[in-house]
Amino acid sequence: MAEPSSIDLATEICGIGLDGPVLNGSGTFDALAARKVFGDALIEDFPFDCYVSKTITMNPRPGNPPYRLWETPSGMINSIGLPGPGLEGFLARDLDGLAEFGVPLIVSVMADQVEDFEVLVARVAARDEVAGIELNVSCPNVHSGLIVGEQPSETEALMKALRPITEKPLVVKLTPNVANPHEVAVAAEAGGADAVSMINTVKAAAIDPTVNRAWLGAGAGGLSGPAVRPIALAQVRAVAEAVTIPVIGMGGITDSESALEFILAGARVVAVGTENFRDPRAGNAVKDGLPAALRRRGFASLAEAQSATLG
Ligand SMILES: Cc1cc2nc3c(=O)[nH]c(=O)nc-3n(C[C@H](O)[C@H](O)[C@H](O)COP(=O)(O)O)c2cc1C
Repeated sequence: MAEPSSIDLATEICGIGLDGPVLNGSGTFDALAARKVFGDALIEDFPFDCYVSKTITMNPRPGNPPYRLWETPSGMINSIGLPGPGLEGFLARDLDGLAEFGVPLIVSVMADQVEDFEVLVARVAARDEVAGIELNVSCPNVHSGLIVGEQPSETEALMKALRPITEKPLVVKLTPNVANPHEVAVAAEAGGADAVSMINTVKAAAIDPTVNRAWLGAGAGGLSGPAVRPIALAQVRAVAEAVTIPVIGMGGITDSESALEFILAGARVVAVGTENFRDPRAGNAVKDGLPAALRRRGFASLAEAQSATLG
């Protein structure tokens, strides 16, 4: 009988070849900061098969006022608020370093108007180091006031504007904060998206235990971690049934078993998010455990699990 490690985990997502199916959730693993701590050992045993950058915006942002994090019984709420160096700072300061990790790089971008999205996609896609672009659509459109990713029509219009700019894969990151996420996914596909990734965080709030006010400086934030996993699994399943483009599944993945649950729900590949804060080697653990997890469920390959249908 073959050893578990003989199971080939190589796969692909919209044409990007991967040694395995484990990505990171945007904003949950600062690879440049980790390299300062772990040195070149991080490159030799990088936790992910593909790295997704923190969401980049047009201009530098300080992020939200403190507090920005709250731990819940099975997860955490964050209201980080996308602090970052802005597009030019990212291209000049961060991109070269991120390309050194030796895995395909997806850059996440967000804007509050289509014109800025167009610039972000054009400038990022022009760089050879970038394999694909993820569109974070959880921001209100300044013109309509509507959150793009909550509206199928806004999502489709954005995709139609961005699609002609690049042939590189465009991934739409879906919000779970809608009644019917599959409707947004179908609109993203109709507009030309190559994949969807999901779920982003679930709207949440926490009350200061000592003073009568909201704990988070921004008033509210987004819940992530194992607490959201059943929500994510239901939404991944509904979306995977509604679209033909691949799904990048995430939401509370902590180990190879929970990663495999997402594959069985219809995700082609998975991403580890909040668990990276508890264990920066969580991605390695998920990858290393996948062959045994696949075998335990009777699969001889990752591809078998990816094409399995739930009873
Ligand atoms: C601290 C923190 C920062 C995040 N930053 C981003 C971000 O910049 N862009 C984005 O699309 N999602 C961001 N997310 C959402 C994650 O990528 C992921 O979609 C979500 O947390 C669910 O996965 P998880 O439960 O495994 O964390 C962030 C999540 C956390 C916890």
